[in-house]
Amino acid sequence: MKKKLSLGLFGFGCVGQGLHRVLSETLGLQTEIRKICIRHPEKPRSLPLEYFTTDRELLLNDPDIDIIVELIDDADTAFEIVRDALKRGKAVVTANKRMVANRLDELRELQQRYGRPVLYEGAVCGSIPIIRNLEEYYDNDFINRIEGIVNGSTNYILTKVTEEGKSYATALAEAQANGFAESDPRLDVGGYDPSFKLSILLTHAFGLRVRPEKIVRVGIDRLTAADLDYARAEHLRIKLVAGAYRFGDEVIALVAPKYVAEGHALYAVRNEFNAVSVEGLFAEEQLFVGKGAGGNPTGSAVLSDISALRYDYRYEYRKSAISTGLSFTEDALLDVSISADPSVRLSPSEFSRFKGGYRTKTSNRLEGEVRLSTLRDLTQREDISIILAPGAVPRPAKIAEKHVELETA
Ligand SMILES: NC(=O)c1ccc[n+]([C@@H]2O[C@H](COP(=O)([O-])OP(=O)(O)OC[C@H]3O[C@@H](n4cnc5c(N)ncnc54)[C@H](OP(=O)(O)O)[C@@H]3O)[C@@H](O)[C@H]2O)c1
Repeated sequence: MKKKLSLGLFGFGCVGQGLHRVLSETLGLQTEIRKICIRHPEKPRSLPLEYFTTDRELLLNDPDIDIIVELIDDADTAFEIVRDALKRGKAVVTANKRMVANRLDELRELQQRYGRPVLYEGAVCGSIPIIRNLEEYYDNDFINRIEGIVNGSTNYILTKVTEEGKSYATALAEAQANGFAESDPRLDVGGYDPSFKLSILLTHAFGLRVRPEKIVRVGIDRLTAADLDYARAEHLRIKLVAGAYRFGDEVIALVAPKYVAEGHALYAVRNEFNAVSVEGLFAEEQLFVGKGAGGNPTGSAVLSDISALRYDYRYEYRKSAISTGLSFTEDALLDVSISADPSVRLSPSEFSRFKGGYRTKTSNRLEGEVRLSTLRDLTQREDISIILAPGAVPRPAKIAEKHVELETA
């Protein structure tokens, strides 16, 4: 590859502009952005108009462009751009987690067929170099657990609401104004975005392909004032946690809000910061913390991918290639707290082991152990709020039930 890299950039929003800033200030990497493809030509831009086009073929057909950098907010069009770039022999860098999580099988097939790489570090946890670490550092370690705060927007909202007493609407508007939120904020607060990232992490950490819709997902959009009061009274914080846990040859994964106590690795992770805790069999626990959203942090991850392409770096998908014998399961149990308005009927029969509950003037709260499949059904109910208990880790039902049998024998 040439010493000076020629880039074709798709998207000049929060991340596209962040990348432009990062590229213009970095010293080590010589790059030239030849053209930027955007959607709305009438929007005012911070660069001369001759940089911009709405014609994607101008970039894809330019023989001098080495790398297509895809930073648009539309996953279907993003996939078409990436596919067409690979077909034309170009390497690709993208930050589009929705597109990567939904189309990973096709992306891997296209990389093989056309011999060009697709890198996507910016798609998971902004500036935290988690994918390359899973690919390179942990390639021969066995991951037992990967758990973290992987969405900057919801962590920002939860911090402002629980610690600063701001309203949910104000905190969301601030997250949007700061560029942390997805164009469609339901992707963040509904837990979809973390499920895209967890789906990608499952591939790189365990070699498992689990489509995002297969992951049980609870968002933060149903949290109640009573949940926040409870957290404050018990000196707990609420974090939206994405986690995958290996037990023997089975892996359980879910995205859900969780009460965390002081001393927990994620307790002090605030605002738009993300954190990923990785527990390897040999390396044991390591915590990666960094800004998970915003133009410059995500731009820095994209910059790192562009730089890696100088030496033709590509993901080897090592954990998928070596047969790990792992399988994904939903046959699991976990401890949760379910709350609702006092007028809503909550039944202990939802729990496989009911631990207790109480009713106040403002809320009705039940606690206990539920099956993950029951939790999936409960996520359909709009009138209840579900939060994992402090320290809750899902465990395979067959192991937990055996334990109870032994205890009661
Ligand atoms: N924001 C973050 O902190 C963050 C962090 C990690 C990953 N990401 C991912 O990075 C990507 C970009 O996010 P963003 O926050 O930068 O989005 P954004 O601020 O909404 O900007 C989106 C850009 O894409 C352009 N665009 C949309 N559809 C297009 C099309 N069909 N053809 C050409 N250009 C098109 C828009 O053009 P106009 O300017 O003409 O409207 C705009 O410049 C998304 O996949 C997002 O999930 C974002």
